Amino acid sequence: MKSYRIPHSDLEVSRIAYGCMDLGGSWDARPLTKALRSRAAELVAAAIEQGITLFDHADIYTHGKSETVFGDVLRELPGARQRIVLQSKCGIRLQDDPRRGNPPRYDFSHLHIVRSVEGSLRRLGTDHLDILLLHRPDPLVEPDEVAQAFAQLKQSGKVRHFGVSNHTAAQVALLQRHVDQPLVINQVELNLLHSYLIDEGVSANQEGDRYAAAAGTLDYCRLHEVMIQAWSPVAKGKLIHPPARTDRRTRSTAALVAKLARAKGTTKEAVALAWLLRHPAGIQPIVGTTKRERLIASCLADGVELSREEWYALFAAGRGAPVP
Ligand SMILES: NC(=O)c1ccc[n+]([C@@H]2O[C@H](COP(=O)([O-])OP(=O)(O)OC[C@H]3O[C@@H](n4cnc5c(N)ncnc54)[C@H](OP(=O)(O)O)[C@@H]3O)[C@@H](O)[C@H]2O)c1
Repeated sequence: MKSYRIPHSDLEVSRIAYGCMDLGGSWDARPLTKALRSRAAELVAAAIEQGITLFDHADIYTHGKSETVFGDVLRELPGARQRIVLQSKCGIRLQDDPRRGNPPRYDFSHLHIVRSVEGSLRRLGTDHLDILLLHRPDPLVEPDEVAQAFAQLKQSGKVRHFGVSNHTAAQVALLQRHVDQPLVINQVELNLLHSYLIDEGVSANQEGDRYAAAAGTLDYCRLHEVMIQAWSPVAKGKLIHPPARTDRRTRSTAALVAKLARAKGTTKEAVALAWLLRHPAGIQPIVGTTKRERLIASCLADGVELSREEWYALFAAGRGAPVP
């Protein structure tokens, strides 16, 4: 698989990454089962076989079980830890954490960031994360506190590189003004049916422009070489198997994806992901399926080239209207 160099880092990573969100099964306290453990082993092995080198986690995924089962799988694969790039996130706290009645919230406090990383390292069975992302912007963020936490984690060798997720351009800029380390990634929701960060660039100053809040996030990231990662790259499967009762836009986008896949002799997954890969920002899709065959079908995207005309036809279908 072709690779990207993450700017401002020494990391060379596969163009497609694997998202481990669902590896741990249910989002509750139920323990990991034998079936979940063997499924995780099969998926991680398949991803590595396909050439995937970046694995995406978060402290909260299935309440920590996704990191735990991944750590167990890694222990059974000698030498694998050195060959992969491990990324995790912190900053979201779930309902009842740690006390019953606490609401879902974001927490970029020094204490929470450092404690969260220590938990991820313990569950993953590693002494360092290659990349740590702040999961969702915390309105109560004190950028100096984040800077101190990052400095401590960097100095202790627990985290090598830092980034963010779901942040706007201005939010990245504010943090970067305080944090000594370069913010190397912004992981955002991006797919054919949710292309607002690309669409705002062609919709600016048009009647009904609804993207003021995104404020040039993609262009900012390109300008400052913050690599973009795309979560939900196949819109939770809607681009591949649109639900029986869905809107016209979803149906017609999925139909065009299927038509192009047939014409190119490839999979629908490959076309949907190739649309992201074709963008010159160097977007890295984070594939989240828990089915081995779908993961393999997704990795075929690495060999698919979309022409400008094909890219725009897909873009127009996904946004529900031709470009202005
Ligand atoms: N930063 C953030 O805020 C954030 C938010 C969400 C996710 N993420 C990261 O991004 C990764 C991917 O996100 P995601 O899981 O939402 O992405 P996704 O791959 O678009 O969606 C996964 C869902 O779609 C289904 N699916 C995937 N491929 C399919 C296919 N080819 N055909 C039919 N159904 C398919 C999956 O079911 P099956 O498992 O049955 O295939 C699963 O229910 C996550 O694992 C996580 O690492 C980050």
